[in-house]
Amino acid sequence: MKPKIAALLLGVVAAGWAAAPLLGSGWPGFALTVAGCCVAAGSLRLALQDVPEPEEAYFASALERAARTALVLVRLLSWEEIGCVALLWLEVMHPARPWHTAVLGALLVAWLLTVHVAESGTRAAGLLRRQARILAAGACLLALGAAAAFLPGATSSGGAALHVLAAIAVIAAALLVLPGLSRRWRSLPDAASRRSVAGMEPGAETPADVLGEVRGYWDADAETYDQAADHYPQRPQEVAAWAAALRRLLPEPPLKVLDMGAGTGFLSLLLASQGYQVTAADLSPGMLARLRAKSTVRGLAIQVVEADAEHPPVDDFGAVVERHLMWTLPDPAKALAAWHSVAPTGRLVLVEGTWGTRGTSPAELVRQRARQLARSLQPPRHAHHDEYSERLKSALPHAGGLTPDELVTLVEASSWGKAGRARIERLRDVEWAMADAMGLLDAMIGPQPRWAVIAGR
Ligand SMILES: C[S@@+](CC[C@H](N)C(=O)[O-])C[C@H]1O[C@@H](n2cnc3c(N)ncnc32)[C@H](O)[C@@H]1O
Repeated sequence: MKPKIAALLLGVVAAGWAAAPLLGSGWPGFALTVAGCCVAAGSLRLALQDVPEPEEAYFASALERAARTALVLVRLLSWEEIGCVALLWLEVMHPARPWHTAVLGALLVAWLLTVHVAESGTRAAGLLRRQARILAAGACLLALGAAAAFLPGATSSGGAALHVLAAIAVIAAALLVLPGLSRRWRSLPDAASRRSVAGMEPGAETPADVLGEVRGYWDADAETYDQAADHYPQRPQEVAAWAAALRRLLPEPPLKVLDMGAGTGFLSLLLASQGYQVTAADLSPGMLARLRAKSTVRGLAIQVVEADAEHPPVDDFGAVVERHLMWTLPDPAKALAAWHSVAPTGRLVLVEGTWGTRGTSPAELVRQRARQLARSLQPPRHAHHDEYSERLKSALPHAGGLTPDELVTLVEASSWGKAGRARIERLRDVEWAMADAMGLLDAMIGPQPRWAVIAGR
């Protein structure tokens, strides 16, 4: 049977099992309705998982906008997890029936696993092996919950306490199994498996056509890149917040700083205006042309070099910085090593943000989805002229975005790690300055988290 159909059937069976015997309307009816909606919405998400979100367009028809909003809505929440909570609540409303609860627990875990198999295309056997520990812990807690409820004396205060214990055990089991699994489930395939898609081994020379496609993309993007406020902030408060953050993250000027993947020069210009001696390197001549024009207008001396991240300009820099570059590198470890070779006693400052949905907390995941939804309800704003092609994405190990954990691990594993542990700082002042310029809806959801990983002296 196809995993998507199996997932739908398991969801329906779990809901029917938790509901029987029917307790009528009121809270039980409400819990059952919520669970039913979640099973339906989750199945719809699975059915539509290969449908890409329509591009934002200025002249989208009402139908296109409605389709886009519906897709974002159906992908907004973790429907199966909400469904599980509703079904457990429904179960708790029935008089004590421990064996019934144990079967429900098994059904819910089977449902979640099947959803994951359907969503990720992973093989069920491998998945069970990888999640064996967490499944065993969940099963033990479910058994504890069921067994505690079996104990006699249900009418005494001791018996009531046992029931409370059973309920706590069942909830703990749900919490243990659900978020732990769901976080992994939402993850894209790991770096190694994505590399194998593109047929590249870590450390191997990056094929020229990958870099060529990246260069072509950014050359074309140079025209509109600065129009997005979060690419090239212009409000005094935001610029000042970025200036303060850079000053905090870097040693005092004057200092030779290499801005890698400098683009249209947001960091380079800010640094040069603070007295740093800046070398701006990027593989896109189109982006660098914009940077050059701006530095000329402002009378700032910036050395501009066309170079790819794995072959930085040779010098003895006091610091290497980058902003929003790591996700688009074919081999970030190799790039980090190359940067260390041109700043062996310097500092590394990687300025990043949380954009993708990989490994983010469930709360951040909901916020990301809410941001998408809010965007789809507003007139489209300029950001990028296009998306990376699927072929290019599959050649980049972090095209889905890097988590703070992943970046810290990468840096510590590189030659930068020899100087001591990496540090991480959340750029709350930058987030605050950005939020101040947002509309009500965006401000309520909050800006995407911004953070920097720092290593070296
Ligand atoms: C998202 S933009 C960031 C630009 C700039 N750092 C900023 O903060 O606005 C990514 C930049 O990285 C550059 N880039 C992408 N891959 C690169 C590579 N392998 N080597 C050097 N630059 C690269 C692109 O040309 C683009 O200018």
